[in-house]
Amino acid sequence: MTSAMLNRAREYEAQQQKTILPRQRPGFHLTGAVGWVNDPNGFSFYQNEYHLFYQSNPYDVHWGSIHWGHAKSTDLVRWEYLPAALAPDMPYDAMGCFSGSGAALPDGRHLLMYTGVERVTRADGTQAELQAQCIAWGDGINYEKDESNPVLTAADLPEGASDTDFRDPKLWQEPDGSFRAVLASDRGDGSGQVLLYRSDDARAWELVSVLDQSNGKLGGMWECPDFFPLGDRQVLLVSPMNMEPSGLEFHAGNNVIALIGSFDGRNFHREQVQNMDYGLDFYAPQTMLAPDGRRILVGWMQNWATCSFVPAGAKYFGQLTLPRELHWHRGRICQQPIRELEAYRKNRVVYQNVFVERETVLAGIRGSMIDLLLTLRPEPDCAFLQIALRQGGCHETTVTYFPGEQRLCLDRSRSGYRFDVVHTREIAVQPEDGTLKLRLILDRFSLELFVGRGEQTASVVLFTPEQEDGIAFRARGNAEIDVEKYDLIIEP
Ligand code: FRU
Repeated sequence: MTSAMLNRAREYEAQQQKTILPRQRPGFHLTGAVGWVNDPNGFSFYQNEYHLFYQSNPYDVHWGSIHWGHAKSTDLVRWEYLPAALAPDMPYDAMGCFSGSGAALPDGRHLLMYTGVERVTRADGTQAELQAQCIAWGDGINYEKDESNPVLTAADLPEGASDTDFRDPKLWQEPDGSFRAVLASDRGDGSGQVLLYRSDDARAWELVSVLDQSNGKLGGMWECPDFFPLGDRQVLLVSPMNMEPSGLEFHAGNNVIALIGSFDGRNFHREQVQNMDYGLDFYAPQTMLAPDGRRILVGWMQNWATCSFVPAGAKYFGQLTLPRELHWHRGRICQQPIRELEAYRKNRVVYQNVFVERETVLAGIRGSMIDLLLTLRPEPDCAFLQIALRQGGCHETTVTYFPGEQRLCLDRSRSGYRFDVVHTREIAVQPEDGTLKLRLILDRFSLELFVGRGEQTASVVLFTPEQEDGIAFRARGNAEIDVEKYDLIIEP
């Protein structure tokens, strides 16, 4: 039975969705049907289709009244909206259906697990918003919340842990049919830990172990954990809040880091920490295992620090990243755009060994929905080599390579933003044989930069006017480049 609150959201979405023109949205990055979007949720493959849910406030372009919006796709590029899946319509989730995950079960059911937030008055009269974990069973459209909700509560926490910061379950099923879930928890002192739970039926859960904790380092509360094997190593992905930068790493405030190590079925041993994105707009990613064995990641292409600038008159706000395939190279987790995108490449334009002058413009190289592959070959005297995108009028977004310092600088200061904060990021890169390869995916309102084989990525949202789609190359000193450009044409 769908509640009146869920029906209202579904009707509102269906009505409002039609008032947003296709060209007002990105071509292939998922936005909410209408209203606000934050984290991706419930990313899973169910009955031969990819399902992607998202934190949604259908009624506003700002966070609030958190529902789960829903979309599906056969190729992770073209998305079809489905009716909202969850509304905050129960006492235990009245303050929001927060982030969570999904799993396709062998018996044909689609299981969702999420955080319900409930406002309570404590014995001492103070108000608190308790967080507890809930489940819902569905068929790909309608989801029934379980009678035993919430299924994981403060009573299941290790001693001292906070009952108001216990959220974002990422669940999966083991080959023997039992379930595991990792949960984000505040230890009670503002620092983060990830808890591993086990269940036979997704209703009764027991704590297995504390997988890892920040110990006052690596930020405060760790949000949105994910835990999976990649090759022969184990990855614990977390989104730490309020994390200090170090060198060129971790500049996002709220960051995304991969803790890399080994797992013996109970305990995790961390050996390495990796920053997962060097842009300004990336947070709370979630992965899924595709039927062909690919580990695919999708993130929120925004960040809590960058989401206050909403263009005037916007009917939706926020988008998710392009799904990315994860693999290893040179000891790092690399991210590549999902290969399905290549089916939408049209109008190939290629240049080889172009000598870059002060300002080089190449016929046919422009666009705001493109896949642009570049090979940069600076000579020893080259001080910098710059790519200017989304150019025209007073706008441009630049990626500048300083070969002497092995550094890239991304600058979106002139990309349509009307608030003056930090709009730049620097990335330490490692060219191979003196050349640096870049792949830039542009989709009307964003740039996703992939360095080398995806050793580093940088995601940024742009609000440059649509017609400003020029591209120029600049250099000081001698440099040659190869350019390969495709338009990405995705019919709505
Ligand atoms: C991460 C997050 C999650 C929470 C959700 C609420 O961006 O803060 O921890 O579940 O957003 O919308």
